[in-house]
Amino acid sequence: MSTPPAGIARLLPVGPTGAALDLRSLADHERHFGPLPAIEGPRIGHPGSMVHEIERAGLRGRGGGWFPTARKIHAVLESAAGRRAWSAGRKPVVLANAMEGEPASSKDAILLRHSPHLVLDGIQVLAATLGAPSAFIAVHRGSSVIDIVTRALAERRDPIVIELITPPARYVASEESALAHWTGDGIATPVFLDRPFQRGVNGRPTAVQNVETLAHLGLIARYGGEWFASEGATSAPGTSLVSVGGAVSSPGVIEVATGTPVAEIIDRCNGFSGDVAGFLTGGYGGAWVATDALLAAEWSPESVSAAGGVIGAGILWALDARECPVQELARIARWMAGESAGQCGPCRFGLPSIADDLDLLATPAAQAADLHRINARLPLVQQRGGCKHPDGTARFVTTGLHVFQDEVAHHLHGHCSASIGAGSLPIEHPRRTPVPLPGRDFR
Ligand SMILES: Cc1cc2nc3c(=O)[nH]c(=O)nc-3n(C[C@H](O)[C@H](O)[C@H](O)COP(=O)(O)O)c2cc1C
Ligand code: SF4
Repeated sequence: MSTPPAGIARLLPVGPTGAALDLRSLADHERHFGPLPAIEGPRIGHPGSMVHEIERAGLRGRGGGWFPTARKIHAVLESAAGRRAWSAGRKPVVLANAMEGEPASSKDAILLRHSPHLVLDGIQVLAATLGAPSAFIAVHRGSSVIDIVTRALAERRDPIVIELITPPARYVASEESALAHWTGDGIATPVFLDRPFQRGVNGRPTAVQNVETLAHLGLIARYGGEWFASEGATSAPGTSLVSVGGAVSSPGVIEVATGTPVAEIIDRCNGFSGDVAGFLTGGYGGAWVATDALLAAEWSPESVSAAGGVIGAGILWALDARECPVQELARIARWMAGESAGQCGPCRFGLPSIADDLDLLATPAAQAADLHRINARLPLVQQRGGCKHPDGTARFVTTGLHVFQDEVAHHLHGHCSASIGAGSLPIEHPRRTPVPLPGRDFR
């Protein structure tokens, strides 16, 4: 194994000035990280040694769910073995998720901008570990990193060919079953029956993995699982990229060891730029948390969850206290409603109704009946969709109404305390209505 770098700047190593190194060229990448070792593939009934290394690392996926990566690998291998093992059509597929569908996230783009080869190494490692003959990297259509990935791929002579694919830039197109659906059939809508590890791209067992997770795999292959777990929280070892935005003095993407106090993350962003009304954690499918509760937490799935939040795709957004949080809830809920794939009733019809009621609540003419209707509708959309999109949106609204209950009460009394316009949370392409037909706009 190569000599591991010291410190927590693992995915985004920094130079003498403290700025992240530009490792876009293969030569610079290999000079910094050393060569990628050969990876032992699986034999029938025996996963290769890399799987043990990933288990030792305790790596959990960084795409939102923090699912143990080794467990997913075992599930894909078992699924492949159960299907007339290793016959050509049943060999696994690796699908790297670089879609970054959460508009408040920029960690995957920053990672690819600085270290695209580390992600591509991780794809090679996973493909070899699974015995997968084909691999894809999905970057959403129109993304600024398409050129970088194209150039990086052109520099390499990989044993397993990686194909760059560009599904449409829709929020649910990056959900793993939707991504596998698009890769095989050209339609980026979620599918309900089997999970991708069972039947993914063209019916083949598919490992969908976030690009940050894959970059960690590129490091674990070089330096080992024990090195990986030498930093971070015991429950979710390693480092994590965090997209910090909103009312902080230096917003951006930073790499921290998991378990770092959230207050320290804010300090690394040079503190707050003003008063903060509350925090959005995990993105638009995440949860709002009161500032004091979040600042007392540590950056791990368990600690953020105990504070009422969701670590998700590593998003922390401090809402400026001068903005109207109710207007922000309404604006983002409307956008999320427009992102429905239009396949399931509770999502297709429920989310726009909730957004309509929030629009009413966002005005100083709000009435208690508007709030009652929202509270009655929220449970009706949960656990009833083909994917977690309505659940995430409902959690965004429910936690927001709770954290900002004082401002909601102001609205019900005809006041709004905002002194600047709402609208700081980013949205990529404003959409006012859900798609009229399932599948439309998802090709
Ligand atoms: C609506 C929705 C959107 C998602 N968007 C993304 C995304 O943009 N990028 C991503 O890596 N995972 C996204 N996920 C999670 C993926 O479905 C999947 O769990 C993940 O890519 C697996 O990678 P990991 O195990 O490395 O975390 C999304 C999930 C849902 C329900
Ligand atoms: S819940 Fe919504 S986004 Fe998910 S599959 Fe159904 S319609 Fe599509």
